[in-house]
Amino acid sequence: MKNILVTGSVGQIGSELTLELRRRYGNGNVIAGINRTQPTGALAETGPFMKVDATNREELAAAVKKYNIDTIYHLAAVLSAVGEKNPGLAWNIGVNGLYNVLEVAREFNCAVFFPSSIGAFGPTTPLDNTPQDTIQRPTSMYGITKVTGEMLCDYYHLRFGVDTRGVRFPGIISNVTLPGGGTTDYAVEIYYEAVKHQRFTCPLSKGTFLDMMYMPDAINAAVNIMEADPSRLKHRNAFNVSSMSFDPEIIAAEIRKHIPGFIMEYDVDPIKQKIADSWPNYMDDSAAREEWGWNPVYNLESMTRDMLAVITEKHRKGLI
Ligand code: SER
Repeated sequence: MKNILVTGSVGQIGSELTLELRRRYGNGNVIAGINRTQPTGALAETGPFMKVDATNREELAAAVKKYNIDTIYHLAAVLSAVGEKNPGLAWNIGVNGLYNVLEVAREFNCAVFFPSSIGAFGPTTPLDNTPQDTIQRPTSMYGITKVTGEMLCDYYHLRFGVDTRGVRFPGIISNVTLPGGGTTDYAVEIYYEAVKHQRFTCPLSKGTFLDMMYMPDAINAAVNIMEADPSRLKHRNAFNVSSMSFDPEIIAAEIRKHIPGFIMEYDVDPIKQKIADSWPNYMDDSAAREEWGWNPVYNLESMTRDMLAVITEKHRKGLI
């Protein structure tokens, strides 16, 4: 039996992952850790939630003790573009928050899932077919917190035996909760704008290739890595995972198969563009495939079909 705490449970990934964890492990066994935003809908109705600010170690320890937690999914974070506006906040949540989680995990013997990111790479990384183990000198504060996090998780495993595991997520595309302030957010917004206004102004330039993934695959990655047989894991943390790579022109062309009049314009955001240019075009995720069976289901075509169907239905009902 698992007792799970999810920090950042109202965020883009947390809001869907928490519900999936409740389906798998029982509603009462998965605690939604919330901070500034109150949970609504299914997240609030299907199971317990509790105020857990990851930067407050006492709050974390209290939740772990109260619910006898054995696994922490630590999703609370500040995304890349917001992190450039407020680097101190990105560091505090990204590094000090994770440090607290690892200390509490060490004390109470919890496993920890930590999501790293394509942001953990930088301009000196080989950007095509980016290897699992390679140069990591990111130039965004977000990336710096992610590399630090990867190393902290390795350290707590090697030094203290904490069962830390994690992946490097690419841009995650979803239709439930909007991401907040990431460089890859355009690939979510484009679907909403296509349905609502049949046009989109893209903040990244043509030819900017980035790894992406549809949320159902991201959730499977997070669950499956924690379920994996540890004897097969040569890496424990920061597995490259990806399911597709595209640039703005390619996703626009895919949307046009469904909405032929869709218009794409460009107004490049220099902060986001600089970040995107320093991130991989596509990663080699063979270590994840070999060591724990990573095998994504969705590609750009099937994701686009699903995204447009769900968002069109929400629009028809007046929900967006
Ligand atoms: N989606 C994230 C961002 O753009 C990348 O991990 O910040």
